[in-house]
Amino acid sequence: MGFDPEKFIREIEPQLKSIVDGKAIAAVSGGVDSTTAAVLSYKILGDKVTPVMIDTGFLREKEAEKVKEMLKSIMPLKIVDVSEEFVSAIEGLSDAEEKRKKFRKLFYDTLSRVVKESSAKYLIQGTIAADWVETQGGIKTQHNVLVQLGIDTEKEWGFKVVEPLADLYKDEVRELAKYLGLPKEIYARQPFPGPGLLVRVVGKLTREKLELVRKATEVVERNLANLGISQYFPVIFESDGYYDERLSSEVGCKVKIYNALATGVKGDVRAYGNIASVDCKKDYEELREIMQKLTSYNITHVLVKIKDKNPNGKYTIGIRAVITQDFMTAEFAKIEWDLLEKIADEINYEKIREVAYDITTKPPATIEFE
Ligand code: XMP
Repeated sequence: MGFDPEKFIREIEPQLKSIVDGKAIAAVSGGVDSTTAAVLSYKILGDKVTPVMIDTGFLREKEAEKVKEMLKSIMPLKIVDVSEEFVSAIEGLSDAEEKRKKFRKLFYDTLSRVVKESSAKYLIQGTIAADWVETQGGIKTQHNVLVQLGIDTEKEWGFKVVEPLADLYKDEVRELAKYLGLPKEIYARQPFPGPGLLVRVVGKLTREKLELVRKATEVVERNLANLGISQYFPVIFESDGYYDERLSSEVGCKVKIYNALATGVKGDVRAYGNIASVDCKKDYEELREIMQKLTSYNITHVLVKIKDKNPNGKYTIGIRAVITQDFMTAEFAKIEWDLLEKIADEINYEKIREVAYDITTKPPATIEFE
């Protein structure tokens, strides 16, 4: 049977009312999960709930103001700008999990501060089933998974975590959001991870890479909107690497291995391996076979070169676009090559050496790079 939002609300309402017996903070990231969790709680608990958005410095351009505006007629949103604090604390770190763990600590320290300032006792967040399934599987440290890992949030941060959507999958959350009357720009919104652009600045976090990927995000999102793609975004990483002759002869076209590492999921366990790009015939079926061969090595994401940009540039922009129902497995989207070239033309910043398109399914890649 399909998901019934009315029944879900009927069942969650008494639970929420009995758990939350004081003030609560609802953390909103602007993504569909956290926004839906906040709106649901706000509708059920009223002004016991203060919806808060933390501007972590890893949001899209002007994201906090945009989300506030989108939600204006539904609930108020308090914005806490800690961007400088976050970026300066994570700047210079390279390892994906180390960055995620640092982010998570800063994030909950900040929320803890907000909770105390509001004399609240609860933190409502939009964790969904896929988040804790993957974190428990050791694939990645999802920023919002705490209780399922045995973290005592009351002892650690002074609040109890409430997760009204913890048993739902993404498509169910969208249905619920629609039912709750959220605007289409929210319920149909592509997911945006809590740590935001941090997981898309692959490898060492620098302000330069962060600003470039932020700019490229606007270009990619504008060009790929409304094409039925489940999630689409750019990543950035250093172009340093080498051409691998053995792999090139195995797959029949030029293979570059980057020093940059990205996450994957192989045989249900986390993998952290190199990124590769190929300069091959633009045929998705042939590229799929090449991807399968290459990911049998210590390679987690395979990209196909779309365009060379400035030969003196330092960075590669990778475009990721996937089709998926539940975000646990995913197909790469077969975007028209002309459109990818148009996007590559628009990503015209001096520091960019090349633009490439990710042709890896999940598994063996994850959707995000970190
Ligand atoms: P992965 O990269 O695990 O992504 O294949 C699956 C989905 O989860 C999103 N994602 C996150 N969402 N906090 C979130 O709220 C996180 O730490 C996080 N990591 C990944 C990702 O964007 C994709 O939709």
